Amino acid sequence: RIVYVNGDYLPEEEAKISIFDRGFLMSDGVYEVTSVLNGKLIDFPGHATRLERSLGELDMASPVSMDELLAIHRELVSRNEIEEGLVYLQITRGAPGDRDFAFPDPSTTPSTIVLFTQNKPGLADSPAAKTGTKVISIEDIRWGRRDIKTVQLLYPSMGKMMAKKAGCDDAWMVEDGFVTEGTSNNAYIVKGGKIITRELSTDILHGITRAAVLRLAAEAQMEVEERNFTIDEAKQADEAFTTSASAFVMPVVEIDGVTLGNGTPGTVARRLREIYLEESL
Ligand code: PDD
Repeated sequence: RIVYVNGDYLPEEEAKISIFDRGFLMSDGVYEVTSVLNGKLIDFPGHATRLERSLGELDMASPVSMDELLAIHRELVSRNEIEEGLVYLQITRGAPGDRDFAFPDPSTTPSTIVLFTQNKPGLADSPAAKTGTKVISIEDIRWGRRDIKTVQLLYPSMGKMMAKKAGCDDAWMVEDGFVTEGTSNNAYIVKGGKIITRELSTDILHGITRAAVLRLAAEAQMEVEERNFTIDEAKQADEAFTTSASAFVMPVVEIDGVTLGNGTPGTVARRLREIYLEESL
């Protein structure tokens, strides 16, 4: 695989980052994941806009312009012959040459930028989308700025492992009884045909797929309500699903052992997945 590191395209074995990189030492960095379908980047402008916002909130600057970033994405997709897959991008506050809690001066410590592709043939035709996924609920103990897409992913990783241990696919995080989001996706329930998802705030990541799916739902005259919902309400819903750049629209058929509907992907989730992929393919 050819990867991109600070201006160079290199075979992955030759890519190197300093041990003092603040992404490594302090999780001081942000990232984006953009999907590729039919060799085409999906929603790149949305990801670029969110990246700029994440960087701004952390007082970081991008080492490359958004136009250059698009060119790097395209170059990697082409060099690695990605038809279906993902492009991962990470920007950290660089490597000041020592460990220090204070931010380094950006004029002497440039930020680090890394991109790589993940080849995922069959991503759009995932078997999990046909059977639906099972989730457990866990307490959301992450920090309070989940709208910034930082690389602090330890707790979501732990949540994923707790889910696997319980024989499930993922975890939905719950704060004060209300569902925030999945470990790496936004969460939705459907009741009486109405799509319900938490409103945007600093409590959740503002999903690019979420924005696209809510737009498509409105265009298809489906009813959407953006409000908090509890994990108990979710267990009584007709259906549930998640959205993310890596799994698009993914039906959820079980929450904490409670089966939703007849235990197969619901009509609203299936329809949204179909229209989302139709528009993207
Ligand atoms: N995760 N919420 C969280 C906590 C996420 O990590 C993600 C994405 C989303 C969905 O956002 P989007 O639709 O823009 O992908 C919501 C990516 C895919 C990841 O970490 O791999």
